[in-house]
Amino acid sequence: MVGIDIGTSAIKIVEISRWGKGKTLENYGHITSDSIYKDSPLAVDRGSRALSRDFVPLAIKGILQEAKIKTKEAVFSIPDFYTFCTSFDIPPMPQKEIAGAVQYNASQYVTLPMKEVTLDWKIISGAPNGSTPLKIFLVAVPNQVIQEYQAIAKEAGLELYAMEAEATAISRALARGSKKTICLMDIGVQSSTVNIIDDGVLKRSYSFNFYSGQLAKTVSGALGVGLPEAEKIKNKDGINSPNNTIGEALRLLVDPLVVQLRSISSEFTQSEQKEVQEIYLTGGTANLPGLKEHINQKLGKTATVPNCFSDFLYPPILEDKLRAMSPGFSAAMGVAIGGLEI
Ligand SMILES: Nc1ncnc2c1ncn2[C@@H]1O[C@H](COP(=O)(O)OP(=O)(O)OP(=O)(O)O)[C@@H](O)[C@H]1O
Ligand SMILES: [Mg+2]
Repeated sequence: MVGIDIGTSAIKIVEISRWGKGKTLENYGHITSDSIYKDSPLAVDRGSRALSRDFVPLAIKGILQEAKIKTKEAVFSIPDFYTFCTSFDIPPMPQKEIAGAVQYNASQYVTLPMKEVTLDWKIISGAPNGSTPLKIFLVAVPNQVIQEYQAIAKEAGLELYAMEAEATAISRALARGSKKTICLMDIGVQSSTVNIIDDGVLKRSYSFNFYSGQLAKTVSGALGVGLPEAEKIKNKDGINSPNNTIGEALRLLVDPLVVQLRSISSEFTQSEQKEVQEIYLTGGTANLPGLKEHINQKLGKTATVPNCFSDFLYPPILEDKLRAMSPGFSAAMGVAIGGLEI
């Protein structure tokens, strides 16, 4: 199975396989948008080039060829800025009435007309025909986005096996099978999400604006260096930079993420009487040096950067490389794993 994540800064592709219980990472590849566009991805207007139809199929073909990926069945991750996730309660009711009730409720939450969106939903607590309300987790995707991905897959010579919202993909890649209550934050270039996964089930997903490009821009401005140089300095020194002005500026920029984590975790605790036990970070910026420790110190909870490749077989020589790449690949891995399980 092939998993594809068309992100703002890069397109990432993985190819995985399963034999009995063993799972193998067969191949992987990515292409960053700065290798295609003259401007650095950080200078690119947010989103304006995220899905350029001319370039994406060509880039995908290039990666497949370069990484020697032969599999044609592919699952695509749909970025959170194209999807709408929410959860709500419906009264106890028989199985056959649930779909209608979900559709009715969805029309209250989703701003687009119902005929223009595709809904995917699941019951996350309660059971049909029971006596307690049912909690529904709903994902709505505009049909136009689905058509766009269908066209990309076709032009790239792939068979579109499935599509999935990024939030459910990263939850599967990083927290499937966990019994804990986890708050998973994906820090993207264009937007970020905070997701609550409880006992292996995604129960909440919130999207908010956090533009990670601002981190390098701040370093660039403070030091008077170009963006590529600033990006390197930021990734090496992070928020504990020996230059205190930079460290302080970066800490101020990441603090809105801490605020989101705190408020979403406490909202979950209030409504479900369950404490978030651990914080997981993913997305390229999860590797920002000092970020885990900063969050840990601010929230008093362990923050880790889990490895989406850890259950897979791969040549041991790749260990360090894959660990470093993991935050950027969790969406591609999540959709591919889901594809194997269908
Ligand atoms: N070692 C590192 N330390 C800190 N930040 C890093 C590191 N490596 C990459 N990044 C940052 O990660 C970001 C890219 O992350 P990612 O690949 O998750 O983005 P994306 O998936 O393309 O974005 P989006 O999901 O918003 O479309 C860039 O802003 C880059 O600066
Ligand atoms: Mg991404």
